[in-house]
Amino acid sequence: MFGGTPEGQDGISGLNAFGRPAPDTYLDCSLPGEASAVGRSLAPRRRASDAPSVGLNSSPIPRILPMSVTIDDVRAARERLDDPSVVRKTPIDSCHSLSELSGAVAILKMEHLQRTGSFKTRGAYNKLAQVASGTVGRVVAASAGNHAQGVALAATTVDLPSTIVMPRNAPQAKVDATRGYGADVELTGDTFQEAMTRARELARGDDALFVHAYDDPDIVAGQGTLGFELYEQVPDVDTVIAPIGGGGLIGGTSMALADIAPDVRVVGVQAAGAATVPQSLAKGVPVPVNHPDTIADGIATGGVSALTLGLIDDHVDEVITVTDGEIARAILLLLERAKQLVEGAGAAPVAALLSDKLDVTGETVVPLLCGGNIDPARLQEVLDHAMADRIQLLRLRVRIDDQPGKMADISRRIAGQGANIRHVRHDRAVHGLDVGEAYLVFEVITSGRGQAENTIAAIEDDGYEVERVN
Ligand SMILES: Cc1ncc(COP(=O)(O)O)c(C=O)c1O
Repeated sequence: MFGGTPEGQDGISGLNAFGRPAPDTYLDCSLPGEASAVGRSLAPRRRASDAPSVGLNSSPIPRILPMSVTIDDVRAARERLDDPSVVRKTPIDSCHSLSELSGAVAILKMEHLQRTGSFKTRGAYNKLAQVASGTVGRVVAASAGNHAQGVALAATTVDLPSTIVMPRNAPQAKVDATRGYGADVELTGDTFQEAMTRARELARGDDALFVHAYDDPDIVAGQGTLGFELYEQVPDVDTVIAPIGGGGLIGGTSMALADIAPDVRVVGVQAAGAATVPQSLAKGVPVPVNHPDTIADGIATGGVSALTLGLIDDHVDEVITVTDGEIARAILLLLERAKQLVEGAGAAPVAALLSDKLDVTGETVVPLLCGGNIDPARLQEVLDHAMADRIQLLRLRVRIDDQPGKMADISRRIAGQGANIRHVRHDRAVHGLDVGEAYLVFEVITSGRGQAENTIAAIEDDGYEVERVN
């Protein structure tokens, strides 16, 4: 299987670093030689209720909704999902590096290790497990990725055929995985909305069941089981950070937390290029974003629904946005320090944790790593971007007389500083060059700013003209 969590693999076992009697799987991502931050507070604890809040609960979201979800629905979902062959109880993992960087005790909820690689299996199974035998002939859904996989697996589990419509630009890993879970995949349209229109067409007819990714009480209730689960694992949590796409995940999770632990602060995160909640809360109705633009495809849904906006308004304390650059840095950091591979939506809560938009000093904070399905090509792009940001990936253009030995000479200077050449090319017919001149473009891996500056100085030393081009 490509892109999802390998089926049949159990969650990773570990120690309960809280030393509490109700332990759960628990990992520690401390670097060698580091002490775990779990079990101690880095600063005096501040209860979430003391935290500053933007007061979401004041906007005029209409309360006459076509459908609603209750805490009893989430409790019923919890029982339905109490079967490890269907949905895993995913581990948590304390992270010393993130704790140090954020000034909080950071504990990762590793939902990217869920079956299908994201929390979506929870909602999808909760929905389909309630289908009465013989009433549905085919399940239909539209999704750019993770909902597709969740619905495909849940449908196969309850023995129903499924058709998932995905936009043509859906990540290949997610398309392959969805087929792998047993669905027929139809690639239609350039956007999620176009895929949605086609799925609605396919779902016309008596025996087809359309499964919406978030505008559905059963889906929201299923995602809400995460709230109960993480509170049992981290009972002294102060702040939970969850991404928002359509709002199903945060809607259900915040509702569960509001019931079981009303003092816990819930922070929602949106990608800056796909943020719909701030405007929606201000207007009191879901406001769509027509062309969501972010590397975090899981949260590029383009809008919340009346159902989920109401839940966000009721139970979420703050909503902040993060840039794609911040998300890319969070993906790299999670790989380096926590050894966890997550997709953009899964890294967004960590990006928020590390941003200066959120004060978590002295708190116990749980970012939801809610998905791990990332295309290898996208991963490479993200890592290159994040490394360029740290000046660990440096692209240098050096103007030379196009003569034998120049490339060897400059390569020696780069090697002399301990930097490593990843790629080099000659550019000759370039505007601005004289006849007989060329550019050498080096892609160099450095240890960071200091080595990068020394490398440039070493090349310039002999009169070469050097330009940084990334
Ligand atoms: C990995 C991941 N995180 C977060 C989200 C957002 O969930 P929701 O649409 O319920 O807000 C999605 C949605 O697809 C997702 O795939």
